[in-house]
Amino acid sequence: MPQSVDLVIFNTSQIVTCASPNGPKRGTDLRDVDLLEDGAIAVAGEKIVAVGPRLEIFAQYRGKTTLNAAGMSVCPGFVDPHTHVVYAGDRVEEFELRIQGASYMEIMAAGGGIMSTAQAVRSASISQLVAESWRRLDAMLRLGTTTAEIKTGYGLETNAELKMLAAIAELDQTHPISLLPTFLGAHAVPQEYAGRTEAYTRLVIDEMLPAASAWYQKSHFRTQGIPLFCDVFCENGAFDLAQSRQILEAGLTLGLQPKIHADEFTNLGGVALAVELGAVSVDHLDVTPQREWAILGDSDTVGVVLPAVNFNLGSPHFADARGLIDSGAALALSTDINPGSAPCPSMPLVMAIAARYQRLLPAEALNASTINAAYAIKAADQVGSIEAGKQADLLILRTPDYRHLAYQFGENLVGTVIKKGQVLDLG
Ligand code: NIG
Ligand code: FE
Repeated sequence: MPQSVDLVIFNTSQIVTCASPNGPKRGTDLRDVDLLEDGAIAVAGEKIVAVGPRLEIFAQYRGKTTLNAAGMSVCPGFVDPHTHVVYAGDRVEEFELRIQGASYMEIMAAGGGIMSTAQAVRSASISQLVAESWRRLDAMLRLGTTTAEIKTGYGLETNAELKMLAAIAELDQTHPISLLPTFLGAHAVPQEYAGRTEAYTRLVIDEMLPAASAWYQKSHFRTQGIPLFCDVFCENGAFDLAQSRQILEAGLTLGLQPKIHADEFTNLGGVALAVELGAVSVDHLDVTPQREWAILGDSDTVGVVLPAVNFNLGSPHFADARGLIDSGAALALSTDINPGSAPCPSMPLVMAIAARYQRLLPAEALNASTINAAYAIKAADQVGSIEAGKQADLLILRTPDYRHLAYQFGENLVGTVIKKGQVLDLG
């Protein structure tokens, strides 16, 4: 007698499982998406029970509901491991200034950029932050993102940073996308500390981090075993290497797991620091010199590249993702969605850019957006691949060949989104 399950998905051209149970994919493994033709997937409750050849699944399972994939391909829900999606307002004026020649760091040095979003966030209520961010999360979900990390960093004072954490928690409990929180009090030096980066660094360490940690202890994230990460923008004009180290070490003492924005514009040695501290990920890597690639390749730290930023800043220079992969680094992709450097909710667009400017094959781009992205936020035991026991976060694409995700661009190829076993009605 076949076992009764809630859902069986069948009539698929391809199921790309992206499975990699023993760690993130590296080197030539990134070219393997673990493709199964004419497969089926059995789902019970929130979880995948089995994935395999159609006839085997049909012999073993009977679905209370069946879902005909109509000859299309199925892949894991995308994981976006680096976002600043909680914010208020926009920066369209700054976009026009950049079109006319101002640089991102010049705008920031003049008190705009991250600081201008901080003004908007400081005066927004939690419900306003939730409402504005909800719309962006909906856009991400329609484009296939089912799990995302979200950073604070637009409060830049203790209460406003806590307000952002509260907004992230509320969104996680109400929006279908699964969220993981990152404390990024060291995102920029706020105006009231201009020229006093050391004093602001002390504030982050002495006041903000203990407050964030105390908040986390009482949050549903801790009860559910979801970590709190600590991130720093390590850059000239933001936090130098010594300040970044102090902040991340203080976070570690409180149990916050390090992440770091490194080598976006200036190479300050963030990769070596990340690896030394056992950071979960090191993100951006735009100007990481070749001599540092092996440091990452020999480590467990995931390298996250964010090519929508280069595209948005109109830069012809991209992180050398090809070189990093070939040096053995575990590479992931992310949108970096934020109002300044990347107002972009789309992982498929990121894959399309990575394929063209970073020479990633569609398979590499998909693995970097699913299983490796899950490792970049310590969530690979739950999400990032289609494997028995994991959350049933699945996408039925509008193409029989998953490679079209990176090949086509400008059209949404995500047809159906299934989150924790539920087929979502996205209107
Ligand atoms: O990852 N570089 C620093 N932080 C963000 C940008 C945030 C913003 O401009 O609002 C980034 O690019
Ligand atoms: Fe960022």
